[in-house]
Amino acid sequence: MDDFVHILDHPLIQHKVSLMRDVKTGPKDFRDLLEEISTLMAYEVTRDLPLKDVEIETPICRTTTKVISGKKLAIVPILRAGLGMVDGITKLVPTAKVGHIGLYRDPETLEPVEYYCKLPPDVAERDLIVVDPMLATGGSASAAITFIKRRTCKSIKLMCLIAAPEGVARVRRDHPDVPIFVSALDEKLNEHGYIVPGLGDAGDRLFGTK
Ligand code: PRP
Ligand code: URA
Repeated sequence: MDDFVHILDHPLIQHKVSLMRDVKTGPKDFRDLLEEISTLMAYEVTRDLPLKDVEIETPICRTTTKVISGKKLAIVPILRAGLGMVDGITKLVPTAKVGHIGLYRDPETLEPVEYYCKLPPDVAERDLIVVDPMLATGGSASAAITFIKRRTCKSIKLMCLIAAPEGVARVRRDHPDVPIFVSALDEKLNEHGYIVPGLGDAGDRLFGTK
């Protein structure tokens, strides 16, 4: 697509996404797979983290080597389904703080309704990764990014498992400064706003609520 839309289609990710799509996959495997894919995606999403030189002593000699420097990370899951992506990322970046944004999509209007927002106090100084498995109309992700930007956050990335072209276009239009990382770009939305072929309702499959 362009520099702001990254499709992370490593064979391991594609394989695991296919397992998640399967209607026969139950909540435990669905949860485990989402966590595993989140770790694999986080590896790419954090590729541009800045490094700095440090001097250390190995068992052999003193040497200059690299460690991560600069701003710290915060992960912001969009509730509920985004919660399923947090542990997969904190496995790689254990010092990341976690903020939460509660949004649900009104089933009639498909518009996002906010019910919760709690971000780390120093959120404006952190690099943020907003996470949600599904980017359908893009209304939820766009609203979440708007709330976060009100806290003067400037460095924001969006990480989703499956996106519809409509959702990508919406976020690109509303937030052209926010890079989007997805593992699969699907065909379209159906008349109920579900991604086709998609994987159904991510929150319900994750938590077994349907
Ligand atoms: C799902 C999903 C996204 C949203 C995507 O959440 O996890 O947040 O829908 O749709 P959109 O791009 O059209 O806004 P849902 O509203 O079902 O809430 P839940 O996670 O609590 O189930
Ligand atoms: N939310 C979901 O959980 N799945 C979709 O396909 C669309 C919105």
